[in-house]
Amino acid sequence: MELGLRGAAMAVTGASEGMGRATAEWLAKDGARVAVLARTKDAVEKAAEALRALGSPDAIGISVDVADTASVEAAFAEIGRRWGELNALVNTVGPGITGTIDELSDEQWRASLEVGTLSAVRCVRAALPLLRKAEWARIVNVSAHSTKRQAPTLIAYTAAKSAVTSLSKNLAKTLAPENILVNTVSPGTFLTGGVRRWLEGMAEERGIDPTNLADLNRIIAEDYGEPCDLGRAGLPEEIGVVIAFLASKANSYMTGADVNVDGGSDFV
Ligand SMILES: NC(=O)c1ccc[n+]([C@@H]2O[C@H](COP(=O)([O-])OP(=O)(O)OC[C@H]3O[C@@H](n4cnc5c(N)ncnc54)[C@H](OP(=O)(O)O)[C@@H]3O)[C@@H](O)[C@H]2O)c1
Repeated sequence: MELGLRGAAMAVTGASEGMGRATAEWLAKDGARVAVLARTKDAVEKAAEALRALGSPDAIGISVDVADTASVEAAFAEIGRRWGELNALVNTVGPGITGTIDELSDEQWRASLEVGTLSAVRCVRAALPLLRKAEWARIVNVSAHSTKRQAPTLIAYTAAKSAVTSLSKNLAKTLAPENILVNTVSPGTFLTGGVRRWLEGMAEERGIDPTNLADLNRIIAEDYGEPCDLGRAGLPEEIGVVIAFLASKANSYMTGADVNVDGGSDFV
């Protein structure tokens, strides 16, 4: 797919692996300059090296903790020094905290909101001056389709993700006069590094293969009540391509949308 991104400057959080990495790969293949943002220095540098080989000669890796305001400000200051502008910000980082209303402490709630919601707020705030300097600009925030189904142990996760969806909708309206387009993507179940590591723990006791997309979908359907019509989990590149389109110049008329990428579900 040609996205018209040659030379565009784009930052993707959580891009060292999973759907952030898959998104960054689609952007790199189209010739964008991509900043890979995640905490582990070695991983961001390796990812940037891989993106350079794919067609993004200026790809850079920046170590950042999106739960820390000073760290986020320093990361976008570095992007500003290098590129002076930004065409797109993609926020993919999310929290991994599970537990029911009876189990979760205030501290765990705060952590979920820090990584799940405030991370996107502070990245948008830090990126906006650079987005405003670019000829065209897009923001894509990753939420979750579990916000529309709900599961008892995902209460803090879905609260944080619902706030991200709301934030996107508000930003779409606020920034429309400046022609900055803002959208949300709500993933179903994807075989990413984080999900595979989480499943590996239960693989043996349940007799599942943590890399089998149908097994993965079955576990999510049984434990979280989230089946999908295609009967299998998705691959990171299958959502990366949707995020890359929304982050691109080729998307010129979608803003304020919340796009389900979930293999088919019974809600809008
Ligand atoms: N996979 C699914 O089935 C699924 C379903 C619905 C929604 N989602 C959402 O989709 C998004 C991406 O999920 P994924 O499964 O692709 O993730 P993943 O494979 O677990 O990758 C997470 C990425 O985020 C980075 N990261 C984590 N905490 C960070 C922090 N505090 N600061 C900066 N970077 C951080 C990680 O690198 P470091 O650890 O080095 O920082 C890594 O690059 C998340 O928001 C998730 O909630 C996923």
